[in-house]
Amino acid sequence: MNPWLLAYDGFDPAQEGLREALTTLGNGYLATRGAAAEARADGVCYPGTYLAGCYDRLTSQVAGRPVGNEDLVNAPNWLPLTFRTPGGEWFAPGRDAEILAWHRRLDMLHGTLTWVVRVRDRAGRTTCLEQRRLVSMDDPHLAALHVTITPEDWSGPLEVRSALDGRVVNAGVARYRDLERRHLVPLAAHAADGVAEVLVRTVTSRVEIALAARTTVAGARHRAHAEEGWAGCDLAVEARAGEAVHVEKVVAVHTSRDRAITSAAEAARTAVTRAAGFEELLTRHARAWERLWSRAHVASEDDEVQQILNLYAFHLLQTASPHVTELDAGLPARGLHGEAYRGHVFWDELFVFPYLAPRFPEITEALLRYRWRRLPEARWAARSAGLAGAMFPWQSGSDGREETPALHFNPRSGRWLPDNSHLQRHVGLAVAVNVWQHYLATKDTAFLAGYGGELLLEVARFFASLAVFENGRYSIRGVMGPDEYHDGYPGRTEPGLDDNAYTNVMTAWLMRRVLEAADLAGAVGPEGMTAQEAERFAGMASRMRVCFHDGVISQFEGYGGLAELDWERYRRVYGDIRRLDRILEAEGDTPNRYQASKQADVLMLFHLLGPDGLAEVMTGLGYGWDAGAAERTVDYYLARTCHGSTLSAIVHAEVLARIRPGASEPFLVEALSSDVRDVQGGTTAEGIHLGAMAGVLSLFEPAEPTG
Ligand code: BGC
Repeated sequence: MNPWLLAYDGFDPAQEGLREALTTLGNGYLATRGAAAEARADGVCYPGTYLAGCYDRLTSQVAGRPVGNEDLVNAPNWLPLTFRTPGGEWFAPGRDAEILAWHRRLDMLHGTLTWVVRVRDRAGRTTCLEQRRLVSMDDPHLAALHVTITPEDWSGPLEVRSALDGRVVNAGVARYRDLERRHLVPLAAHAADGVAEVLVRTVTSRVEIALAARTTVAGARHRAHAEEGWAGCDLAVEARAGEAVHVEKVVAVHTSRDRAITSAAEAARTAVTRAAGFEELLTRHARAWERLWSRAHVASEDDEVQQILNLYAFHLLQTASPHVTELDAGLPARGLHGEAYRGHVFWDELFVFPYLAPRFPEITEALLRYRWRRLPEARWAARSAGLAGAMFPWQSGSDGREETPALHFNPRSGRWLPDNSHLQRHVGLAVAVNVWQHYLATKDTAFLAGYGGELLLEVARFFASLAVFENGRYSIRGVMGPDEYHDGYPGRTEPGLDDNAYTNVMTAWLMRRVLEAADLAGAVGPEGMTAQEAERFAGMASRMRVCFHDGVISQFEGYGGLAELDWERYRRVYGDIRRLDRILEAEGDTPNRYQASKQADVLMLFHLLGPDGLAEVMTGLGYGWDAGAAERTVDYYLARTCHGSTLSAIVHAEVLARIRPGASEPFLVEALSSDVRDVQGGTTAEGIHLGAMAGVLSLFEPAEPTG
C-alpha cells in the first residue's frame, strides 16, 4: 500500500459525497470538491468550489419568521469538461452511457487527483478518459485539468465541451435546502477562441468573483457559447481509434477582495492568458507541495495509519496553507470542503494550533489576525451585553458578528428548535489558548506586547466582567460549556448553566497567562493593563469557583443532581446514540435532564493543560487535587459521554493514553477513522472535520501541553 495515495474504484452513488469531500483539492485560497468534471449537482454529485473568507448573507423564512444566515458561498464551478461521440449525448455520470471503469486516485504527495474512466455509449462505442487535476499550491489563483480521451474502437468527430458555470447555488446540505441559497448574481459571461469568462457577484456582500478558462485541443475547431451565468467552448476534432486526444483546461480565479488587481475580471483574464501549460503548472505545484511536506509530515510505522495522517495533514494544509497569510480568513470548522455549518469558524482552531503553530507559525499568525481584525465587533458585542473587553462569537464569518443560527433543525422530529449554543462563551478562551500556543511556538515577546497580547487582554477583561464575586469565589453564570447537550436547567426559563468547570478553570488559567505575558513582554498588548485590572486578574486566578460532587469535578453546578440515563436501553433501542439530543427531543424529552454529555467537557481541561498543568491551576485555586481525583473524574465522564462530536474521540484518546492507557485504543481508532470512514454517518460528505483531523496529527506528535 502506498500511504500517499487514496484510491476509490467504481461509481457508487451512496459514497460519492464522501469521496468528493475527501478528494477535494485546494490551496488555502480556493478549494474544489473531488467531483467528476462531467458532473452537475444532482443529489449524488456535488461539485462545490469555495473561496476562503467569501461569505454572503441572505434572509429566509424559517418556521414563519425571517432568519438571516451567512454562508460560505459556493462559487462558480470551473470543472465542467465533457465530450460526446458522433451523434451521442454529452457524457455525464448516471446518464445513458454505460460506465465500464471509474477509478479516482488522490496523490497527496504531489497534490493531484487522477481519474480513469471507460464508458460505452448507446451505439456501443468505447472511450477511455484519463484526467489529471490540480489546484495550484504555487499560484493560488490557478487550477487546471488535463484530459486524455482515447476512442478505443471507433473513429469520427469527437466533441469536447469545456465551460464555466456560475449558475450554481448553495445546495450541499440537505437540511438547509429550504433556506435561501441563491448567492450569485450573474454579471457577465463571454467566450471566444477557446477562452471562456464568467463574472458573478454575491448578493449582499457584493464580492465579484471572476473566472477565466483557456481550453486547448490541438487542431480543433472552436465554437463559443455564452448565456447568463455560463460560458463555454465546444472543440471538435477528427478522432481515430487508438489515438489519444489531449485536452488542457487552465483556469484563473480572482475576486474583488484580492490585492494588487484592477478588477477581478481583468485579473482573471490576464492570469489565464499568461499562465503556463498544464505540465509546467504541475511541476511548480508539485514543488510547492514538496516544500510543504518537508515541514508538515507526521510519521507512523503503520502504512494504513500513515495514509490517514497524510490525508489529514493534506486537507488541513489545503484549507490553511501559507497562502492564507495574504487573506483575511479564519479556519472554517468543516474546511473548504463542503457547506456544513455554512463555512463558519468555531473554536475548532484550538485543536489545530498545537500541530500548526510549531510547523507553520506564519499560518497561525494569519488565523489570529482574522480574530484580531474582528476585535471591534467583539468589543461591541461585549458592550451590548453590558460587559467589558471582547466577546467573540460562537460562530464567526465575515465581520465577526454572532452567526449562530437562532434555530436548528432536528431531522428526527422534524422540528425547528431554539439554538442556544451562542452561549458557549468559552470560544474566547480558545482564542486566548491559541495566542499562547503561537507564543510558545515562536517565543516572540513582541507578539505579546502587540496584537497577541491585545487579544489576551481583551478576552481576560471580558471574563473578568462576566464573573461575579460571591461567598469568597468568582462564579460565571448563564453560559454553556463545550458539551452542547446541556444548554440550561430543567425547569429554568433562562437558558445557560452556572459555573461550567471548563469555562471557570480556563478563565483562571487565562488570568495567569495575562499576568505572565505582562511579565515576559513588559506590557500585555499596546495599551497594557491597569494596576486594578492586574489585581482583579490575580484574584480570579486564585478564586474561580469549581463545583464537585462524589469526589469529581462537576461539569457545572448541579450536574451531579441530574438523572442518570439508562445508557443500556438507549444503546439497545437506537444502536448509535451519538446524536442523543435528537433522540431525546424526538421522544419529547431533553438531555438537560440527564448526566449525559455530547463530548469531552471537563476532560478538555486534562487535554489542554495536561495532568500537571491542571493540578497546578486547581491547587492554585485552593482545591485539594491529586491523582485519585483526576482518575475518578476521567472515569466518571467516560461513562457519561456519547461522543456526538468528532472532537470528543481526540480528547479521550489523548487523556486516556496518560491516565488509563488500556481504554485509549478505541478512541484512537475512532479518531483516525473519523473522516476517512465517516464515523458520524454521512457528515463528512458535507465537509471534513478539520479539528479532528488536526487533533489526530497531534496525537501522533504531541506538542507541549498549554499549561
Ligand atoms: C461540536 C463543536 C464544534 C462544532 C464545529 C459541534 O458538533 O459540538 O464543539 O465546534 O461541531 O465543528
